[in-house]
Amino acid sequence: METKTALITGITGQDGRLLARLLKSKGYDVSGLIRKAVNRNPETMEDGVNYIYGDVRDARTIHEILSPPRTFYDEIYHLAAQSDVAYSFEHPQETYDININGTLNVLNAVRGKAGITKLYFAASSEMFGQPPTMPQNEEYPMKPKSPYAVSKLAGYWSTRCYREAYKVQARCGILYNHESELRGQNFVTRKITKGIAKYLKDGTSFSLGNIDARKDWGYAPEYVEGMWRIMQSEDDTDYVLATNKQHTVREFMNTALDMAGINWAMISKKNTDPIGSGWYDLKNKRLICDVKQDLYRPAEADNYKGDASKAYNELDWLPKVDFNSLVNIMMEHDLNE
Ligand code: GDD
Repeated sequence: METKTALITGITGQDGRLLARLLKSKGYDVSGLIRKAVNRNPETMEDGVNYIYGDVRDARTIHEILSPPRTFYDEIYHLAAQSDVAYSFEHPQETYDININGTLNVLNAVRGKAGITKLYFAASSEMFGQPPTMPQNEEYPMKPKSPYAVSKLAGYWSTRCYREAYKVQARCGILYNHESELRGQNFVTRKITKGIAKYLKDGTSFSLGNIDARKDWGYAPEYVEGMWRIMQSEDDTDYVLATNKQHTVREFMNTALDMAGINWAMISKKNTDPIGSGWYDLKNKRLICDVKQDLYRPAEADNYKGDASKAYNELDWLPKVDFNSLVNIMMEHDLNE
């Protein structure tokens, strides 16, 4: 059997790295698009991956990279994105440039490669905005509430449009939050586990924003397995990947503190408003973490629960790592580090 080839854009992110590992374990020849020399950080690079320099915003380079005879890819996983929702409010143009123009460049480069190359587009639950009912599936109305979410919706519709118009073999994964020990510290779960580990090391406290946000959190290695399954599906279609369970940021913090063995109490300045409240270390009589207004987003999209039955029925994809196990994996990793 011939070795399959895959290209991953966004290879240095959590999902890119986990996907590279998965595809290598499945015998793929894996290449990864890497932005510039400074991203060539040995700590985020995976063994056995062929790294190619290029920026998704640069149409000419992307066209060259994806054009035979230079290379041929069976599967392209387009994960490269400005993926930080809070940052997107401050830098909407940069977000649109990377997430919309970058996606268009990839789509234009794979246009006309039906039957040769399959494309995966990393869509997001953020596209649903602030959904009034739970859970959301592939048919749920999309009303994005952040520049990031708008950019993902544009990428999602562009991908669907190229699929219909030009027969690009493209599939979108609408992924809910998925975390791991490789998650960046700008995301809340890793900020918490790293923050607690640092607090235990040197007593430094940290701050959070909207601790009552309700998210559907899964374990990222299972989600990259889902991406791969989406690409093996018979049809060019889109899938929600989610756990169908909700937990708050507050619960994540409480669970992580328990797992770190800290005897804590939540102290509130006001009864209803979390701003100004915080988690205190009862033994050492110290503040571990407080809640700050400036970490809230200008528009919150903070209530999600996904229905992944289509992925379960058609791809036999079912996440097994539950919330407590996820927190445990991440907390244990950061305590050991
Ligand atoms: N980052 C961050 N930092 N979030 C905080 C904080 C904080 O200090 N305090 C509270 N939150 C809340 C946010 O307001 C949000 O409601 C929730 O924690 C989760 O925030 P993030 O971890 O930053 O993730 P996200 O939900 O905004 O987006 C992630 O998941 C999406 C769905 O898969 C990102 O990975 C997106 O790129 C992805 O599309």
